[in-house]
Amino acid sequence: MKNILITGGAGFIGSNIAIKLIDKGYTVTVLDNLSPQIHGENPALTSPLFISIKDKVNFVQGTVTSRTDFERAIEGQDAIIHLAAETGTGQSMYEVHKYTDVNIGATSLMLDILTNTKHNIKKVIVASSRAIYGEGRYLSSEKGDVYPLSRTNDDMSKGDFECKYDGCKEPLELVGTTEDSKIHPTSVYGITKQVQEQLVMCVCPTIGIAPVAYRYQNVYGPGQSLSNPYTGILSIFSTRIKNGNDITIFEDGKETRDFIYIDDVVDATILGLEKSEANGEVFNVGTGCATDVLTVANTLIEKYGIKVAVTVSGNYRIGDIRHNFADITKAKKLLGFNPKWSFSDGIGRFTSWVNEQQIQEDKYEQSIQELKCKGLYK
Ligand SMILES: NC(=O)c1ccc[n+]([C@@H]2O[C@H](COP(=O)([O-])OP(=O)(O)OC[C@H]3O[C@@H](n4cnc5c(N)ncnc54)[C@H](O)[C@@H]3O)[C@@H](O)[C@H]2O)c1
Repeated sequence: MKNILITGGAGFIGSNIAIKLIDKGYTVTVLDNLSPQIHGENPALTSPLFISIKDKVNFVQGTVTSRTDFERAIEGQDAIIHLAAETGTGQSMYEVHKYTDVNIGATSLMLDILTNTKHNIKKVIVASSRAIYGEGRYLSSEKGDVYPLSRTNDDMSKGDFECKYDGCKEPLELVGTTEDSKIHPTSVYGITKQVQEQLVMCVCPTIGIAPVAYRYQNVYGPGQSLSNPYTGILSIFSTRIKNGNDITIFEDGKETRDFIYIDDVVDATILGLEKSEANGEVFNVGTGCATDVLTVANTLIEKYGIKVAVTVSGNYRIGDIRHNFADITKAKKLLGFNPKWSFSDGIGRFTSWVNEQQIQEDKYEQSIQELKCKGLYK
C-alpha cells in the first residue's frame, strides 16, 4: 500500500499522520472541507494545521458528505484513514442532525461507494473514540466488573459527582476500560462514533477490505486548534489563560481523562496501517493513566507563568462522563504499541508550542451560553 487517503487530514490528528506518512515514503491525499470551526475563516493564512500539509499532500477540498467529492478522493488510493468528523461532545447534544449526518452519514456513504464502485482500497482505518464507552469500567467489591449508567441530575445538583452502580454500597474502584467493556455512550457524539465503528467493522470484511478501528482517548499536542471552544480541554484552557481570563472548572475538578500525546497516536495509527495483525480489530489508544482536570489547569497556569484564578464551580454538562482511562494491553500485544510520552513531558512540548502561536480569540463563554440556552449546562 502506497497511496493513502486521509479524510479530515487537515485536522489535528490527520495532519500529523500525513506528515509522518510522507516522511516514510507514502503518497498522501487529503479530503477535508476546512471547517471554519477548526481552521478559521481563511485557512491558508490562519490555520497552522492546513499550512503544515498543504504543499505536501494532494489536497481535495470537499466534504465527506458529497458522493462526488468522496469518489474523486478515493480514486487511485490503496487505503483510507477516515478521520473527518464533527468532534464536540457538548455541541453534539444540540446539533444532532449535523453530527449524525457528517459522522454516521458520511461513513455510510464511504462504505456505499466502496461496495458499489471499482477501486483499489485494501484497508480502512476509522477513528472511533473512548466516548463510546460512556462511563468506563469499575470494580465493585460486591459485584466484580460493573458499568455505571449516566449520573443523575439529582445526584450532580447536590455535588455528588462520582459514579454509582445499582445496589453497590461500597465505593467503586475505577479500572482501565478494555475493548470488550460495555459500550454505552452518553452523548450524541459517542453514539455517532459507535455507529461509525460498527459500520466499518461490519461492511468492510464483506467486500474484501480489512477494517481497523481506533478508540482514541483525549489526544493533545502541538497543532491542536486553539480557536475551537467546543473540544480539546488543553487548548480551551490555554486560550483562556493566554487571554488573561479565569478558568472555571466543571464539577469538583476531580474528574479525570487519559491524555495521550499526538506523536503516540500517530505511531499507533500507522502501526494499524502497516501491520496485518491489526486487520479486523478494534484498539484502545491511550496511556493507561488518568489525570484530573484541576491538575491540568494548574499545570498549564504554571507552565505559562500567567496568573489567572481557577474556580471549581460545581456546574456540570449533561452528557459528560466522570472518568475514563484506557487499558492498552491489546494494542501493546498485537501491535507492539508503547506510548512514549508522559503527561509532564507532553504538556511541556504543548505549552512551548502554544507560546509561539498568536493568541486566539477566546470564544469559550459563547460556547457555554449555547449549552445554557439548551438546558445542557447546570
Ligand atoms: N482529538 C481527540 O482527542 C480525539 C479523541 C477521540 C476520537 N477522535 C476522532 O479522531 C478524528 C480526528 O480528530 P481531530 O482531533 O483531528 O479533529 P479535528 O477537528 O482537528 O479534525 C477534523 C478534520 O475534519 C474536517 N472535517 C469536518 N467535517 C468535514 C466534512 N464534512 N468533510 C470533510 N472534512 C471535514 C475538519 O475540517 C478537520 O480538518 C475524529 O474522527 C475524532 O472524532 C479525536
